[in-house]
Amino acid sequence: MDWGMKNRLSQLIKSDGKCLFLPIDHGYFLGPTSKLEKPGETIKPLLPYSDALFVTRGVLRSCVPADSNVPVILRVSGGTSVVGKDLANEGLTTSIKDAIRLNASAVGISVFVGSDYEHQTLMNLSRLVDEAEEYGIPVMAVTAVGKELEKRDARYLSLCCRIAAELGAKVVKTYWCENFDKIVNSCPVPVVIAGGPKTDTELEVLEFVYDGMQKGAIGVNLGRNIWQNQNPVGMIKAIRAIIHENASAKEANKIYESEKGKGSGGKG
Ligand code: 5RP
Repeated sequence: MDWGMKNRLSQLIKSDGKCLFLPIDHGYFLGPTSKLEKPGETIKPLLPYSDALFVTRGVLRSCVPADSNVPVILRVSGGTSVVGKDLANEGLTTSIKDAIRLNASAVGISVFVGSDYEHQTLMNLSRLVDEAEEYGIPVMAVTAVGKELEKRDARYLSLCCRIAAELGAKVVKTYWCENFDKIVNSCPVPVVIAGGPKTDTELEVLEFVYDGMQKGAIGVNLGRNIWQNQNPVGMIKAIRAIIHENASAKEANKIYESEKGKGSGGKG
């Protein structure tokens, strides 16, 4: 691997081999998602605890301070909306030239395996890898399920992750599920856990993050369960403790509880 590629990966994946990516890219198909109406305000208290920000070029340019030293994973696929016909019908939205101009440490793209747009989105990934490799930029593949959240099982997700890795993704993001080790053990590149819609309790999130880490994930790319929480700083600190300090879910929950009422809850 060339020095540039290694250097960019080491900006994202910390020296312990773990990472906490904070995604705020949801607006690219969901519009003004709850608690992300003003992304700049949402992320302000969370940036110090984020190893990277997953973001579109529009929000990066308009809402993220240019003197931020948090590495950027640029979301470069899209072209659909939640009110449109099919979320899977994505194309590449951003050139590699713009990713370089924006000093991105990586680029991220969704693939929709099993959908009507499987071939198109997998070819998007292949083309992106071809272009990004030329400049030493890692590609993170997002194994997306669109509105079909019930697709999240180990058999389907291990298929998606393996295909994404075979096509050249350097990191794969997928949902947590039972038997998560089946996914990690059959994927030749690092796997990060996606969050999904906000859960009823904090402990649910902390438990699946803990389980996923025990089963070989290198970290998370987890948004709504952090910034839609009433205590987002408590939540990101708790998740960080599981990832970087080997905390159990219960220990992390104590960190979450101890942060309540400290007034650092961002938009609350
Ligand atoms: C959307 C994405 C998001 O980055 C991803 O869903 C992670 O965010 P959340 O934890 O809120 O699900 O890739 O396709």
